[in-house]
Amino acid sequence: MKILVYSTYGFDKPFLEKATHGKLELVYTDQPLNEKTVNLAKGFDAISLFTSDYATAQMLEKLYTYGIKYIALRSVGYDNIDLKKARSLGIKVANIPSYSPYSVAEHATALLMALNRKLILGQKLMLMGDYRLDNLIGFDLHGKTVGIIGTGKIGSAFAKIMHGFGCKLLACDPKENKKLILETNITYTTIEQLCQNSDVISIHCPLNPETKFMLNRSLFKQMKEGVFFINTARGMIVNTEDLIEALNTGTIAAAGLDVYEKEKTIFFRNHINKKIEDNLFTILRSHPNVLITGHQGFLTKEALQGIAVSTIANLNAWEYNGISENELN
Ligand code: NAI
Repeated sequence: MKILVYSTYGFDKPFLEKATHGKLELVYTDQPLNEKTVNLAKGFDAISLFTSDYATAQMLEKLYTYGIKYIALRSVGYDNIDLKKARSLGIKVANIPSYSPYSVAEHATALLMALNRKLILGQKLMLMGDYRLDNLIGFDLHGKTVGIIGTGKIGSAFAKIMHGFGCKLLACDPKENKKLILETNITYTTIEQLCQNSDVISIHCPLNPETKFMLNRSLFKQMKEGVFFINTARGMIVNTEDLIEALNTGTIAAAGLDVYEKEKTIFFRNHINKKIEDNLFTILRSHPNVLITGHQGFLTKEALQGIAVSTIANLNAWEYNGISENELN
């Protein structure tokens, strides 16, 4: 089987190489999948895609005519692929059902702690030689209420970290996690109640038609004054314009974002000396109470190894058995 790996980055290629042991024929391109690059897939049996590749219906039709039978996603999320279309064309798609959930949960914690303890401002002042503390006051997480939207693998890992800090936990998720209730005493409630009662809110649910722009003005208006808001899930779960409004009115005291609604054309690339034509992003990026990272929540050695090993396992399963246990369609 010949496999084209789209959107290969310096950070993941060595892990993929190690995981294949030279047994599969992988060809790498640093190009993302788009109208201009889809024809690179000609002559291949399978492709591998990353979060930054978008397999639309139109793209899938082209891939089908080129003979692509399998798509191995190097991600947990699969909101970037039209699964219905892939199914109708008979193209099999598999994701990585899980890899170190600690990577993203710990990154959410890092964003929260950096914002709360004003580490970025503290570092700036330190470099300037200003050692005054007046603008660096944080709060104890101990005893605060943390609301977690989505308590699957990452949300549970985050809940356990917050439990360790001595926080009270609220959750909303259509599926209650009984084990997590026993381990952390987390209380399941509605999203409205969660928003009304939390000092910190962190999103860990998938992006789908139901969750698209779920966090919007109506919910922001119900939040406690001065809430800390963390999103390491998907940008489109949050209405960015409404988020900026909530930041400006002070309802949200600080936002830590690893994902952004329109990150597709921005993240994972070098934009130095290039103008980013995106007003919302420009406002967010320069907002004093916002800390943004460029979708790096997963970026730990353990997670990268997990992604590479599972991607190769999916491809091997297709090569030798024609079926993979991680197929989504
Ligand atoms: P998971 O499938 O284990 O958990 C997702 C949970 O969300 C499930 O318990 C599900 O019932 C719940 N959920 C679904 N709809 C909901 C709703 N309307 N409201 C509240 N909860 C809802 O997935 P996992 O592994 O925990 O990943 C969660 C998300 O994190 C992924 O879908 C992905 O978008 C994002 N992610 C971000 C990464 C990053 O680098 N920033 C890396 C990996 C994942």
